Amino acid sequence: MSDFAISKWVEISEEAIKNKGRLEAAISGGKTPEKLYQKIAGFKSPLPWDKTHIFLVDEKFVSHKSHESNYRMINQLLLKHVKIPKENIHPIPVEEKTSQAAAKKYEENLISYFKLARGGFPMFDLIFLGIGEDGHTASLFPDSPALKEPQHIAAAVMPEEISKHKRITLTFPVINNAKNIIFLVAGSNKAKVVKEILEEKNSVLPAARVKPKKGKLFFLLDKSAASYLK
Ligand code: 6PG
Repeated sequence: MSDFAISKWVEISEEAIKNKGRLEAAISGGKTPEKLYQKIAGFKSPLPWDKTHIFLVDEKFVSHKSHESNYRMINQLLLKHVKIPKENIHPIPVEEKTSQAAAKKYEENLISYFKLARGGFPMFDLIFLGIGEDGHTASLFPDSPALKEPQHIAAAVMPEEISKHKRITLTFPVINNAKNIIFLVAGSNKAKVVKEILEEKNSVLPAARVKPKKGKLFFLLDKSAASYLK
């Protein structure tokens, strides 16, 4: 799964760099992509890191030093091992006083980086997402008001029952504006939700609402996660 994901990364990166001189990718936390990040860091032919910008899909409202921080995991496994300029890394600003302020600041950072006009959304070349057993993706949890966010780029969410931390997440208008979205899903505990999304078309689940407007959508599943599929 990781090897296939890397081959897509390389392909998408080459295309983006050919067209506009850089790759803009938003990547997720969670356990599943850990091996991928390690493999990208140790990839045999070094990737064009000076032309690669890494953003975060979501983050817990905790310090970047915390073991729960997505940035910490991504930094430990990938970023600190490659020659990526500091200004090409775009973490979610958790040093703000509240999760709402962090979401607002992240949104402002994205507006400024992508030079967005009022009401515009960034168009990432590539977004990596995971799926939770409950069907969440990014930090977009079932029944959260953030699922309906129509105009903001980033939102603060408080999934109290599911996660002990407040979180900040990219919203659906941003996710669905991407050129390529790749879900990485592994493990038998995901088999049920994968079936619901792909075969039963349960459109209530957040992950099922990932439908790129013009971009491509890939589901990379291991055998266990795919085991309930026909
Ligand atoms: C996070 C993620 C989240 C994750 C899923 C799947 O920061 O936790 O962005 O949406 O992708 O919960 O997580 P696993 O890969 O650990 O199953």
